[in-house]
Amino acid sequence: MISIGLIGVGGICQVHLKNLVKMSGVQIAAVCDIDPHRAQEVGKQLDATPYTRYRNMLRREHFDACYVCLTPSVHGTIEYELAEAQIPFFVEKPVHLKLEFCEGVLNEVDKHNLITAVGYHWRYMDTTKAVKAFIAKRRITAVDGGWQGAIPEHALWWPQMKLSGGQLVEQATHIVDLARYLAGDIDTVFASGTKGAFADIDKYDIYDASLTNLQFDSGAVGVISTGCVASGTVPSRVGLTVSGRGWQADVKQRDGQIIHERGKRKLKDNAKDIIEQIGRGDAAFIHAVKTGKTDRIRSTYRDATQTLAVTLAANESMRTGEPVTVERFM
Ligand SMILES: NC(=O)c1ccc[n+]([C@@H]2O[C@H](COP(=O)([O-])OP(=O)(O)OC[C@H]3O[C@@H](n4cnc5c(N)ncnc54)[C@H](O)[C@@H]3O)[C@@H](O)[C@H]2O)c1
Repeated sequence: MISIGLIGVGGICQVHLKNLVKMSGVQIAAVCDIDPHRAQEVGKQLDATPYTRYRNMLRREHFDACYVCLTPSVHGTIEYELAEAQIPFFVEKPVHLKLEFCEGVLNEVDKHNLITAVGYHWRYMDTTKAVKAFIAKRRITAVDGGWQGAIPEHALWWPQMKLSGGQLVEQATHIVDLARYLAGDIDTVFASGTKGAFADIDKYDIYDASLTNLQFDSGAVGVISTGCVASGTVPSRVGLTVSGRGWQADVKQRDGQIIHERGKRKLKDNAKDIIEQIGRGDAAFIHAVKTGKTDRIRSTYRDATQTLAVTLAANESMRTGEPVTVERFM
């Protein structure tokens, strides 16, 4: 039996929990949330000890692994302390809002050869797997994707730059990460954004829409768009297209397609819902914790830090109006 601790038991943690409670040999021993009612409620549901301070929890409990499902701005030194205590961790994206903190975590992770995983679940999709196999020996010329969605209603922190990092850092990060997973690392970004359409929303200060040009190490070029104007009548558009001479491949959350010289292939993700989709990353992490074998993990803390570096570089580019070279962690 492995013992798991949860830090931050809000929205996305509930999704991970649905997967974790179905796994054999996994026990949620304790939970921590700064909101005492939430900590009590989730603790009661799971028969796990509730805490409101993670340091108290780490001092009193012995975990084989922890889940960190915190909003972007409150990561602080939690992952550093977990790594220092040699507790493998799964952390939700984006891993932080400050790269200098990630660097410290990475040093500690490397020192202990610690298992880490990050919630970039698009990497585990059947559509992604099919496209990755298709492009293995092909030259990518262009990458074109985006996240045109809605403002998440439950998350009051989301429209505030200092709390979320903005839509590219918090949400479209999935698409940036997928672009890196399929087309390799990004050397330079040049981005622009617009503000003002949501001036009536209290404390809203993120970009309403943005375009980020990407220059890949491979020579490929790319663009990622964001927008949050979707509503009941305006549909979301989320996904990524990679293309090369004579072919094009689309990855969307539930489906996709590959078009090439010999025809068209429709792609479909076989997970029954988003919970099962996210569960693939949970299964990979728990397998690694139980066996020490990390080969099923497709997103590590180091890799996710590199994705964060791209999105933060884009924010800087939007602010300064200049192209920005992406800091390297890989
Ligand atoms: N992988 C995905 O597809 C996906 C989907 C949704 C959210 N997320 C990510 O997950 C993260 C959390 O999002 P959410 O929607 O669950 O947010 P949320 O606001 O629903 O939950 C966050 C929880 O953390 C708690 N918290 C805040 N500070 C804390 C602290 N210092 N110690 C302990 N608990 C603390 C809050 O009280 C809250 O319960 C975000 O970074 C988001 O981007 C990922």
